Parts: sequence; C-alpha cells; structure tokens
Amino acid sequence: MWTIRVLESPEEMVAVEELQRQVWPGSETEIVPAHLLIAAAHNGGLVLGAFEEGRLIGFVFGFPGLEFLPDGPHPKHCSHMLGVLPSHRNSGVGFALKRAQWQMVRHQGISHITWTYDPLLSRNAYLNIAKLGAVCNTYLRSVYGDLRDGLNAGLPTDRFQVDWWILTRRVESRLSGRRRRILGLADFEQAQVQVLYRAAEGDDGWLHPPEQFAMPEGPLALAEIPSDFLALKATDLALARDWRFFSREVFESVFKAGYLVTDFIFDRASGRSWYVLTNGESTLGEE
Ligand SMILES: CC(C)(COP(=O)(O)OP(=O)(O)OC[C@H]1O[C@@H](n2cnc3c(N)ncnc32)[C@H](O)[C@@H]1OP(=O)(O)O)[C@@H](O)C(=O)NCCC(=O)NCCS
Repeated sequence: MWTIRVLESPEEMVAVEELQRQVWPGSETEIVPAHLLIAAAHNGGLVLGAFEEGRLIGFVFGFPGLEFLPDGPHPKHCSHMLGVLPSHRNSGVGFALKRAQWQMVRHQGISHITWTYDPLLSRNAYLNIAKLGAVCNTYLRSVYGDLRDGLNAGLPTDRFQVDWWILTRRVESRLSGRRRRILGLADFEQAQVQVLYRAAEGDDGWLHPPEQFAMPEGPLALAEIPSDFLALKATDLALARDWRFFSREVFESVFKAGYLVTDFIFDRASGRSWYVLTNGESTLGEE
C-alpha cells in the first residue's frame, strides 16, 4: 500500500525530477527542476508525493495563482503536474494525490483549482471529470507550443483548462468516502442524450472522426473520443492529428454555444469513451 505526504527537502525534489523523467520520457528540457519546485513549495505551492515502501511512485505539483475576472483578480491554485509511474497506474494513486491536494488547498482558504490536460486522453478525462468532478468550458489551442517529450511530441498542445470548485457539494460528494455510482452510457441514453456524431471503426481497428457533427440542442449531449489516444498516436500520427483538429472544432463550437463538460463515460464493456456536455449544471447522478 502507498502513503501520501508533503515534499519539501532538496533530496525529495530531486526524486521528483527523476520521476518526471519516467512519466514524460524523452526530453530533459521539459523537466521542472528541483530549485523551482523548492521555490514554489516555500511560497504557498504544494508538492505532494505518493510512496510505496519508501519509493516515490507519484506526485502532484501546483502553486498559488490569480485569475482575472471583471471584478478584479481572485486567488486560485494552479495545479501544474500530476504523474504516476507507469507500473502503478489505474490503482487510485492519481485520485489519492488530487484528493490530498484538495484537502490542503481548502486549508489555504482557496476555493478554486485549475489545470490543463489533453482532452483526447480518456484516462485523464475520466479521472478529472468523472472521478474528481472538475468541469470545463475553456479550450486552449496549442497552449504550450510544441512540447518535445514522448507523450506530446508531434501534435499541437491543445488543452482543456478545467475548473475544480473544491468547496461545492458536487466535488465534496465525489471525494467523500461514499463514492457515487459512476454513470454508464445506459444512464445517459435513458436521459435522452443527443449523440453529436458517430465515430467510425476503421479497417485498421482505430476509431476515425466523422466529417461533421451536430450542434447540441437539448440539455445533454455526448462527444466521443478514442479511448487510447496515445496508442493511436504511436501507430498513426496522421489519424491522431485528424482527431486533434476535429475535436478542437467540436469543443470550441459547443463551448461557444454555452455548453460545458460535466461528466465523462468510460464504457468498459465496449472500451469506448464519451464526454458529457450540458447546457447547465447536470445533476444526473449527483443525488
Ligand atoms: C493521469 C495519471 C496521473 C492518472 O494516474 P492513475 O494513478 O492511473 O489514476 P487513478 O488510478 O486514480 O484513476 C484512473 C482511472 O482511469 C481509469 N481508466 C483506465 N484506463 C482508462 C481509459 N482508457 N479511459 C478511461 N478511464 C480509464 C482507471 O480504471 C481509473 O478508474 P477507476 O479507479 O474507477 O478504476 C497517470 O495516468 C499518468 O501519470 N499519466 C501520464 C502523465 C499525465 O498524463 N499526467 C496528467 C497531465 S499533467
């Protein structure tokens, strides 16, 4: 079993550097160095580590920031990196690190955490949206320029910027011991959801984006993404780019039309993945 604790010492930060090399292999320039992690940790930032038998297996790093609203600047926590060793994924380490971050940021008196992630990564989407209860209506094009590490090279670094309103009932109920039943496709079909497009299964075994999509009209809509985009990208970079530009158009259009991402379905039986869009806060499954 693993434990989570706050990291502060130079030695611990060097271990975080090493962990980054294993999570984002291939480019030394993309590593956040120990001195910056220490400076952040000494100034309200948080570096949390997950340990198994004394070995660092995951970390989350963030720092205080400001968001600029019409009535002036407001404090927030900017969560910059979350990484778990490949050998330790899918066993709840990422969730536990974000939960610890949630607890600590609440104690700092901050109610809002933001971070960015690639919207085509199904596991990240499931963790961020379905399990943690973040929401999103902000699509950022090529936000980090061209990254050179092994996970990001070759594609524009488009990102969702998610909002995690950490004092809301929505988030508290998802992080409490009483985990809600994660909703499946059948739940949304019963709620008369609109499917914005049908991805086609190609002869190559990959899902292909369609030519067109419908704009959402009712309260709930679904937008499918590939369930293993990194494997797809490693096999067919041109198809990965098609998905990047297609999904960019879909999400920019629906966000502009007032919809927001409020849930995510990973249907383990079919291995397919959908974002759930609503034109108001979805309460399906929250009670
Ligand atoms: C994203 C990351 C931090 C998640 O860590 P993790 O410890 O695997 O996360 P968890 O186990 O808490 O949650 C993952 C969930 O996704 C599920 N999942 C696995 N494969 C999935 C897929 N293809 N689609 C959707 N969900 C999937 C898991 O089953 C798990 O859910 P469950 O607890 O209900 O079973 C980790 O995968 C990682 O380090 N990735 C590379 C770096 C990265 O992308 N960092 C984030 C951006 S900075």
